Amino acid sequence: MDSWVRVLILVSCLALPAFVESRTRHYKFNVVMKNISRLCSSKSIVTVNGQFPGPTIYAREGDTVVVKVINNVKYNVSIHWHGVRQLRTGWADGPAYITQCPIQTGQTYVYNFTITGQRGTLLWHAHILWLRATVHGGLVILPKLGVPYPFPKPNHETVIVLAEWWKSDTEAVINEAIKSGLAPNVSDAHTINGHPGPVISICSSTGGFTLNVAPGNTYMLRLINAALNEELFFKIAGHKLTIVEVDATYVKPFKTDTILIAPGQTTNVLVAADQGVGKYMLAASTFMDTAIVAVDNTTATATLHYSGTQASSPTTFATPPSRNATPVANRFTNSLRSLNSNMYPAKVPQKIDHSLLFTVGLGINPCSTCKAGNGSRVVAAVNNVTFVMPTTALLQAHYLNIKGVFTTDFPGNPPFKFDYTGNLPSNLATTSGTKVYRVSYNDTVQVILQDTGVIAPENHPVHLHGFNFFAVGKGLGNYNPNTDPNKFNLVDPAERNTIGVPSGGWVAIRFRADNPGVWFMHCHLEVHTTWGLKMAFLVENGNGPNESIIPPPKDLPKC
Ligand code: C2O
Repeated sequence: MDSWVRVLILVSCLALPAFVESRTRHYKFNVVMKNISRLCSSKSIVTVNGQFPGPTIYAREGDTVVVKVINNVKYNVSIHWHGVRQLRTGWADGPAYITQCPIQTGQTYVYNFTITGQRGTLLWHAHILWLRATVHGGLVILPKLGVPYPFPKPNHETVIVLAEWWKSDTEAVINEAIKSGLAPNVSDAHTINGHPGPVISICSSTGGFTLNVAPGNTYMLRLINAALNEELFFKIAGHKLTIVEVDATYVKPFKTDTILIAPGQTTNVLVAADQGVGKYMLAASTFMDTAIVAVDNTTATATLHYSGTQASSPTTFATPPSRNATPVANRFTNSLRSLNSNMYPAKVPQKIDHSLLFTVGLGINPCSTCKAGNGSRVVAAVNNVTFVMPTTALLQAHYLNIKGVFTTDFPGNPPFKFDYTGNLPSNLATTSGTKVYRVSYNDTVQVILQDTGVIAPENHPVHLHGFNFFAVGKGLGNYNPNTDPNKFNLVDPAERNTIGVPSGGWVAIRFRADNPGVWFMHCHLEVHTTWGLKMAFLVENGNGPNESIIPPPKDLPKC
């Protein structure tokens, strides 16, 4: 069955009687080992229901989603619904040791959350160890019944998941890196809906993903970057892409031939099948504008296939941008504006209660056992604090008032100032701790995320749990608090949950802390999360009736 036909069937199954306002959608996630034969490897990978990528969750805005997760693998597991706001339901957010203890082997946990005020494409993924390499899938939130998209309705829709593939076991890859103190091996291939594609295959006869189109129709691609460590360019030979949404928020539509998508980000694009009948290549390739960082240079490919194309007809190739094509990346991100219509206003906080500057970057700490690293190890930090994972989940510690799990002294500014992107300090060591930054309910927060050049400047896609934020400003070099705010866009900035901090530059984000709980913020390059580029916000309960964390579910896993 063609994938878009499958999508159509799924979508029509969602058609509800008009009197039903919202409903509960039940899913079962059986976490099991599975050998995916098309990837030509003898190893089994951790999957949900034996699928790679995992099953897509469909819901409508306003629905309640109930997912029973059964852990049948040797690893502890937790699942994160990336970008779902989880209003007052942090228990269902998923990051291990932040909002819950992981689900142990043989145990189950039911994630139960309501999708409020959101519609669009998101993703779900494992949020422990490196399991999200293979444990991930799409999360599609359709608008409420009868509410149209704010753009011409496409004829068909399809979910496209981009990811990375390692021939060897990913847990072994990261464990080896931790032991050595050095960077982990890069992936062996990128994938498009689970296939590296016909061009660079990791073995013969892997085939590839095919998007079948009919001339004259329009298709909406729900693109998801589920890769662990790489930002990706995506393009389709001979076709323009019209961007209509990022991170489940509508944007002012614009046309481009290449998109940039970081791990954790999602992008909806419209593609018109308006070219001559034939086959056209889809290509996903790495963006990395730091020369010394090793990346997977393979290009994943798939095929856009017009009906009526002769089997023998050649494929029109797509030429991916070079890996360091910063101008291509900038052209895309600089074009993003929220739709900011009457129906979907951009509620950008205008007055700020907490004005924070967070440096994000790497560091080097001594490590007596790191032979390969010559007695030192690479670490990462926010404001020079390398986050130490607790053994009790932070949200439980907060809710039950368990002392000694975390401290609330996360620094709102760098502990010592230096020329972040230029002359580096001689001491590159970081401190460590389990620190959170505390804010009151409904406070407004501005964070300048400032990259550092420690080891090397690098683009960090930073993800905030529990909120969308507005990306109000961005620049190169060191943020200047006197002049840079004048250039902020406080009218229609893009609203996102994950944002790329440019190499050797900064971004400014703003959000309203209208969701009580403990909310993780971290670099969505998994290698940097492992190294400690993570922290959490603690948002106190408000005084109103719907401004407190709801009590934890009975089956919340224990540590
Ligand atoms: Cu998609 Cu904390 O991650």
